[in-house]
Order: sequence, then structure tokens, then C-alpha cells
Amino acid sequence: MNSLLRSTLKIKNASSLARAVVSGNFQENPLQAPLWSRSNSTQSSLAKDNSTNEGFKGHDMLAPFTAGWQTTDSKPLIIDKSEGSYVYDINGKKYLDSLAGLWCTALGGSEPRLVDAAIAQLKKLPFYHSFWNRTTKPSLDLAKELLEIFTARKMAKAFFVNSGSEANDTQVKLVWYYNNALGRPDKKKFIARAKSYHGSTLIAASLSGLPALHQKFDLPAPFVLHTDCPHYWRYHLPGETEEEFATRLANNLEELILKEGPETIAAFIAEPVMGAGGVIPPPATYFEKVQAIVKKYDILFIADEVICAFGRLGTMFGCDKYNIKPDLVSLAKALSSAYLPIGAVLVSPEVSEVIHSQSNKLGSFSHGFTYSGHPASCAVAIEALKIYKERNIVDHVNKVAPRFQEGIKAFSDSPIIGEIRGTGLILGTEFTDNKSPNDPFPSEWGVAAYFGAQCEKHGMLIRVAGDNIMMSPPYIISPSEVDELISIYGKALKETEKRVQELKSQRK
Ligand SMILES: Cc1ncc(COP(=O)(O)O)c(C=O)c1O
Repeated sequence: MNSLLRSTLKIKNASSLARAVVSGNFQENPLQAPLWSRSNSTQSSLAKDNSTNEGFKGHDMLAPFTAGWQTTDSKPLIIDKSEGSYVYDINGKKYLDSLAGLWCTALGGSEPRLVDAAIAQLKKLPFYHSFWNRTTKPSLDLAKELLEIFTARKMAKAFFVNSGSEANDTQVKLVWYYNNALGRPDKKKFIARAKSYHGSTLIAASLSGLPALHQKFDLPAPFVLHTDCPHYWRYHLPGETEEEFATRLANNLEELILKEGPETIAAFIAEPVMGAGGVIPPPATYFEKVQAIVKKYDILFIADEVICAFGRLGTMFGCDKYNIKPDLVSLAKALSSAYLPIGAVLVSPEVSEVIHSQSNKLGSFSHGFTYSGHPASCAVAIEALKIYKERNIVDHVNKVAPRFQEGIKAFSDSPIIGEIRGTGLILGTEFTDNKSPNDPFPSEWGVAAYFGAQCEKHGMLIRVAGDNIMMSPPYIISPSEVDELISIYGKALKETEKRVQELKSQRK
């Protein structure tokens, strides 16, 4: 074992560091489980004491986006309670939840109105489905409300699902059904973007442009093509402006369409701001140019608003911010502030008319889930939308966002930070050496993971992916909580700078 790894072994809170490192499996070249975090023991038996996280080492869950060794060799962080922008672990330690769960608890962790809405609905009608023209009032009310608040363009129908992944899987089926109805059986391919994240079911993972989601799962599916990631800092050519970069990417998209044959390309899918790929806002003029290209070739535009919707970017929808006129929209997460699972697909009048008449020919639109429009989830979502409106959540986000953005971006001069990027209440930091996208730190240093572990030590949870870290706090975060977030970030950064300095000097 080399001396750097040996010195890394000395890190005290190796458990949180281990957690952070492996959540880096979203990066282009996923990190291996670091040697220092592996123990020789293969213990997997459940410990007796379940009152603390110690008792759950070697637990029974096949955990999502977690490496096997993590569950056998390190303790999970068990979150037990939430309160506003904070969560508490099973040992009572309090953390500022800077990722709002998984970019989703928009109204924080203790909104009584959402709980009351769920209870009232569960007491009245805990379940009924929406098949065969039977349905429930909450699902009808929610569909109506969503179509009213989505104003980037007129949408005609809302289809309910239970997650962002289901929303994007549904998108592919809707688009295929639509093109089959129009007598265009070859127009079936999808174009997504490198580093995008659209979920982890078969189709949503295929659409995603993150290799870790594909490897050894036999993905992506062959009908999915990936075009450029619109990350200016990382990919622009010397001297190229943002606008020129956007033009080049739009030209590359057009070339791809022409190479494949426009008659084979059904849809283009994009997050307004890319989230899990590292928080990547689009370069200036990007969406304007890309929309013109897809329109030219009669390709549908799908806006994946799963993390951008309902205020995250300081507008009700990401489409409002970037003047996107989509044919289809995917929603989830903040739709119910994550209190109960629900997602939705919004469908334009043109697409829904075709689907409608095709279903008349076939006798049914044979797609749906037992829990499509679950009444309790819909009731919670209706209440969440009411609260967003009553509390002017978009205004609130716009009030706190500059403090958040400017406060964190003030650390941009740090010698270990390559770029800090974001807008509204979403921010990413990429750690690189020499301020260059081409000078990554050695992956075994786990720089972002170390930073994440320091945040955790100081009482804040962030997301780590490779040498990126991401934050997307609840929309209700207060100015003083933003200050606390910035202060913890600053402390963790100082400690990480020191760590990198030590590692560099050991390398010499
Ligand atoms: C943009 C985007 N789309 C889709 C998804 C998938 O959502 P879910 O995890 O609810 O399936 C996510 C999840 O983070 C996302 O960020």
C-alpha cells in the first residue's frame, strides 16, 4: 500500500468518508472502493443492538447506489427524524440537510399540513385506482391544478406515476405510441445528453448519460443516443464564448440527427439544469438553439423537470427560466415535497390528441400503474402546491438564492476548487487542481469525499459524486440557515485544503 493511502487510513471518521466516496459512482470513471475503507472482516451478521447505527453494520438491505463492502464494512448513516431544513440521525446528531433528502423535500421535514392532508385522505379513501374511467377526486383535482400552473406553454393532460424514473419510462412509451399512431414506425430513437440523469429503471437509466448506470446492466438500450454535455467550463474550446459553445453543441446535435436520419429520431430529453451529473446550468442561448434544431426535424422535446420544478431555480418551472416550450414534461420530487411518492407526465394538446384517437382505435390506452394517481399522494401534492402558492415559494427562493449562491461562490478562489456553479437553490462544486478541468486530483485522494466527511462532522449533509459535491436545500431554507450552510462549507473547505496540501507534500 502506498504511503498516501496509508496516510488516508488515518482519517478518523472513515465511515462517513467511505459513504461519501462511493456515492461518487455517478462520475465518469467511478472510483473503486478505497483500500483504507475495507476491513479484512466479511462480517455480515446483524448486530444485536439496533438502537444505534452500530447495530446496523452488515444490514439486510440491498441498498441503492451503495457498494456491497459499504454495508458489510461500514456503518450506515441512519436518519431518524426531520425538522424544517434539518434531519437527525439515530444517535440524535443534527444535520443541515443541504440536499433536501434527494433534491426533493422542498417544504422541509416537518410540514404539518402535508401530514394532515395525507391522514385526512387515508381516513376517507386510502386507495382507489384510475383504470377504466374510474378514478378519485384528488387525482382529478391535481391534474387540473398542474395544467393550470404549468404556463410555459399550454399542456392538455397529466398522467400520474410514482417516481421520476416511471415518468421518463412513460415518456418513451407515449412517444412510441404517438409515432406509431402517426404511421411513423421508424421514428423511435431518443437523444439524451452525456452526464444527464433521468432515473434508474431500464429505460430511464438508458436515457441517463452516466456510465455507472449502464455498466454491467447491459445498458443503454440501443434506441438511445447521447449528445454533448452542455458544460461550458469543462468542454469549451480555447477562446470560445458561451454562445459559440452553445452553437457548436446545437450543430453537433444536428449532425447526429442527420447521421442517424431525422426520420428515426423521436424525441430529445433534457433537464433544464442538469442535477446528478454535477449541477450544470445551460450555457447562454443553449436551449434556444437546441429547440430550433429539434423543431426543424419534427422531434419532440421532453423537459425532465424532476428536480427543477416548483421553484428550485427561482421560477415555478425550469421551462419558465429557459423559455423552453416542451411537448412533454416529467415531474416528481417536490410535487409532493417527497412526503408521499408521486410523479406526473404533462402532455401537450398535439400529442394527447393523437394518443386519444389511437386509444379509440385500439379500445384502450393500455398503460398505467396500480398507484397512478394514488389518492393520498395526490392529496399531499395538492396541499404542497397550495402551500407553494400561499407562501409565494418562488419569491422566497429568489430572496434567499443570492445569499446562497454568492456566499458559496465567494470560495471560488480556493486552490482546490475548479468551478462552483449553480442558480437558484442548486449548487455544485467541482474540485480540481490548478483551476483546470484537465487536472483532476488522484481519485484515491477522495478530495470531494473528504470534504463531504468534514461537512458531516460539522453537521451538514451534502452529496458527493466523484470530485463533485452538490447542494439543493429545501425551498423553505431561511437566511440564517443559509449562513450556517456557508459557514460549514467554509470550515470543511479549509480542512480539505489542508488535507490536499499534506497529500501533495507526501507525493514530493
Ligand atoms: C432529473 C431527474 N429525473 C429523474 C429522476 C429519477 O427520479 P426517481 O428517483 O424518483 O425515479 C431524477 C432523480 O434524481 C432526476 O434528478
